[in-house]
Amino acid sequence: MELANKVALVTGGSSGIGRETAKLLASAGAKVAIADIDTTGGLSLLEEIKNSGGDAMFCTCDVSNESEVKDWIKNVVNQWQSIDILVANAGILAIGSVEEASNLDWDKVLGINVKGYAFCAKYAIPHMRKRGGGAIVNVASMASLIAFPGCALYNTSKGAVLQLTRSLACDLAADNIRVNCVCPGAIETLQTQQFADALGLTTEEAINQIAPTIPMKRIGQPQEVAQAILFLASEKASYITATSLLIDGGYTAK
Ligand SMILES: NC(=O)c1ccc[n+]([C@@H]2O[C@H](COP(=O)([O-])OP(=O)(O)OC[C@H]3O[C@@H](n4cnc5c(N)ncnc54)[C@H](O)[C@@H]3O)[C@@H](O)[C@H]2O)c1
Repeated sequence: MELANKVALVTGGSSGIGRETAKLLASAGAKVAIADIDTTGGLSLLEEIKNSGGDAMFCTCDVSNESEVKDWIKNVVNQWQSIDILVANAGILAIGSVEEASNLDWDKVLGINVKGYAFCAKYAIPHMRKRGGGAIVNVASMASLIAFPGCALYNTSKGAVLQLTRSLACDLAADNIRVNCVCPGAIETLQTQQFADALGLTTEEAINQIAPTIPMKRIGQPQEVAQAILFLASEKASYITATSLLIDGGYTAK
C-alpha cells in the first residue's frame, strides 16, 4: 500500500475535507492521527476507519492553542514513535469586511487558520527530521489567490497559508521535508452551509447560484480534494515542493 508504515496527522478531521482525507490516507495504509474540536464527529470517524480495517487515533484538540497541539503530537509519537505526514486542514470561514471585523474576530480567524497551521508544523517537523524526511500539505483555498468580496479576514488568512507553505518549503527542503498546499474552490462541506446561511439561502439555493459561475458547472466534493492531498503527501510527488494546487473546477482561470 502506498502509505504503509507511515504516520499521518490530519487536523479538522471530524468533517468535510479533513474527514475524507483521513479516510483516504488510512485506506492507503497510513496510521492516521486526527485532531478536531468536534469530539462526536471525530469518534464516529475513528469507528468508521477501524471498521474498514484502518488504524487511527482521535484527540480533541484546538489547533489555535499551542500547548494542546504540542500535547497532541507528543501523544501521537508516544503511541506510534514517528510522524511522516502532516495535513493541516482545520479552518473556519469568516464573512465580513475589515470595517465589520473586531479585534477578537481577527484573533480567532488568524489563530485557527494561520497560527494553527504553524503550530502543527512546529511540533511535527522535529519528528519528520528524525525520520529523514516527510511531507506537509496545508489546505489553503482559491481565496489564497483571489479575493472573495466581503471576506477580508478569510482571504487574508488563506493568503498567509500560501506564504507559510512557501516559507516552510524553502526552510525544510534540505531536511527532505516537502511542503505544499492545495487551494480548493467551492467544495460541498459544512462551510458551504455556513456560507449559504450568511447569505440567507438554503445550501441547495447557494449551490445553484455558485455552480453556473464555475467552468465545470458544479461544485467539488471533499473526496476530490482528498485525492490531491494524498498525491502531494505520497512519494509520487517526490520532486514537488512549495507548490499550490488549485482544485476549483477552473474557477480562477476565468
Ligand atoms: N468547503 C470549501 O468550499 C472550502 C474551500 C476552500 C478551502 N476550504 C478549507 O478547507 C478546510 C476544511 O474545511 P471544510 O470545508 O472541510 O469545512 P468543515 O467545516 O466541514 O470542516 C472543518 C473542520 O475543522 C474543525 N475545526 C474548526 N476549528 C477548529 C479548531 N480550532 N481546532 C481543531 N479543529 C477545528 C471543525 O470542527 C471541522 O471538523 C478549511 O481550512 C477551509 O478553509 C474549504
